[in-house]
Amino acid sequence: MLKVINVVGARPNFMKVAPIVEAMKRREREFAPFVVHTGQHYDAAMSEAFFRDLELPAPDVYLGVGSASHAAQTAAVMERFEPVLLQEKPDWVIVVGDVNSTLACALVCSKLGVKVAHVEAGLRSRDRTMPEEINRILTDQVADLLFTPSEDADKNLLAEGIPAERIRLVGNVMIDSLLKHLPGADKSLIREQLSLTEKEYAVVTLHRPANVDCPDTFARILDALETIGHRLPIVFPVHPRTRRTITELGFAKRVAESKTLRLIEPLGYLDFLRLYSGARLVLTDSGGIQEETTVLGIPCLTLRETTERPVTVSLGTNKSVGTDPGKIVFEAMAALDENSRPKHSVPALWDGHTAGRILDALVQS
Ligand code: UD1
Repeated sequence: MLKVINVVGARPNFMKVAPIVEAMKRREREFAPFVVHTGQHYDAAMSEAFFRDLELPAPDVYLGVGSASHAAQTAAVMERFEPVLLQEKPDWVIVVGDVNSTLACALVCSKLGVKVAHVEAGLRSRDRTMPEEINRILTDQVADLLFTPSEDADKNLLAEGIPAERIRLVGNVMIDSLLKHLPGADKSLIREQLSLTEKEYAVVTLHRPANVDCPDTFARILDALETIGHRLPIVFPVHPRTRRTITELGFAKRVAESKTLRLIEPLGYLDFLRLYSGARLVLTDSGGIQEETTVLGIPCLTLRETTERPVTVSLGTNKSVGTDPGKIVFEAMAALDENSRPKHSVPALWDGHTAGRILDALVQS
């Protein structure tokens, strides 16, 4: 029997950990799962809603770290996670993704000699100004087992000197959640509540500091969105960081008066799935949404210069377009002018069975 601590901290972690915990519960003779929530994200809309929608059991331990500077937040997670690790003495700790909680818990494990596995290892944007890129590189360096979603990730890890025997290509665990919940998301009434017709609206999400904390960049993106908005309505579920900077940077009046940009609160997993799965176009700076739109065949424009998920461009429906308004508008119009869905294929092993492969690898290690 393997005792495994599964760490969640921020919104993009929940849909990656839920299928792993569920698979462990199904294989109860082999696994005793334990869930630690660091509390990096704490608002009901950013956290609780996801536990409910994804049927993720309530955390066994809640560290309640909340928001702070990167150093203070990372340090708080480390300080509060260490005693949990000493008390629970797990065989493995699983960390997912690239948020501050991921790196903090991985570091604590490596200092205490507890085995740590990183799910979604090996992704690289090669942009070290992104806090997530630093979290990815460092987490991968200390992890004992690295679960990758795609071959490019394996190559990145090998190039950084990670031994091949620590790397396992298992596919994309977030897609396990997507495929499981796609039918159930039909029950969401979000499109009706917003009076939207399928394929006649776009969805935008923005929260990267490089986009929303910088007044010039944010203004350029708003310019582009306003132009695209003349063609079709754009629904914008607003991340708390973005909500704050809209006010602080003085954009509140501009977005409130916009006739085409519809700002709404952040959505839970099922409502958001129903919303973007019916969209004609998605514009985002998120990582996970690039992958979800690739699987569903929805055109996606990533408002960043780089992507750590190149298969979503080479095989999928994603384009990295940066933040130049002319380029964003050009690519958006080109996507909207297409009559058929873009040609795409789903990367290997993004098949809904990644959690099972992760568990098999843990048992064999
Ligand atoms: C974090 C992750 C990012 C991920 C994103 C998804 C890091 C470095 N970044 O960025 O990789 O894509 O989550 O959402 O870990 N806030 C609230 N309520 C919440 C959470 C946050 O109000 O529940 C506000 C706080 O004012 C906080 C700000 O949002 O200061 C930023 O939160 P934080 O977790 O530090 O970073 P994110 O921008 O959310």
